[in-house]
Amino acid sequence: MQTLAIGCDHVGLSLKAAIVAHLIENGFTVMDKGTTSATRTDYPHYARAVSLAVASGEADGGILICGTGVGMAIAANKVAGIRAVVCSEPYSAQLSRQHNDSNILAFGARVVGDALAKMIVDGWLGATFEGGRHQARVDAISGGPGNTEMAS
Ligand code: RB5
Repeated sequence: MQTLAIGCDHVGLSLKAAIVAHLIENGFTVMDKGTTSATRTDYPHYARAVSLAVASGEADGGILICGTGVGMAIAANKVAGIRAVVCSEPYSAQLSRQHNDSNILAFGARVVGDALAKMIVDGWLGATFEGGRHQARVDAISGGPGNTEMAS
């Protein structure tokens, strides 16, 4: 992932600025989809803007920040082709890339501090999808057969 779309609501504004700076310092291209002010706003708008950028290929991946990350992930997962995860620690972020091919990372500004958020982002960006047995499982999310028949 080289080009990242990022979005937040009013709660995530300060943490988004810290993450944007961290990404630029580390050589990534960042597309900021807002919000850009502290005025109270609604997270689904920014989740959708980032998700559409990822689903269309405009961005390689996306990062979403609200109070918990939960609303952002729920909204992002409504867009076809998006696999958004909420992570509050780096291990799940890393495994979500390796096993689930997550393409959007969400976290909460009321849950994690700046330093932990940067570790979560680094863990996510440093991992790659392993494919293999995980590919069929990811395909099954969108209606593929998967590895096994489900018991009825
Ligand atoms: C805003 O109060 C809050 O609901 C939002 O930032 C987010 O946590 C929603 O999931």
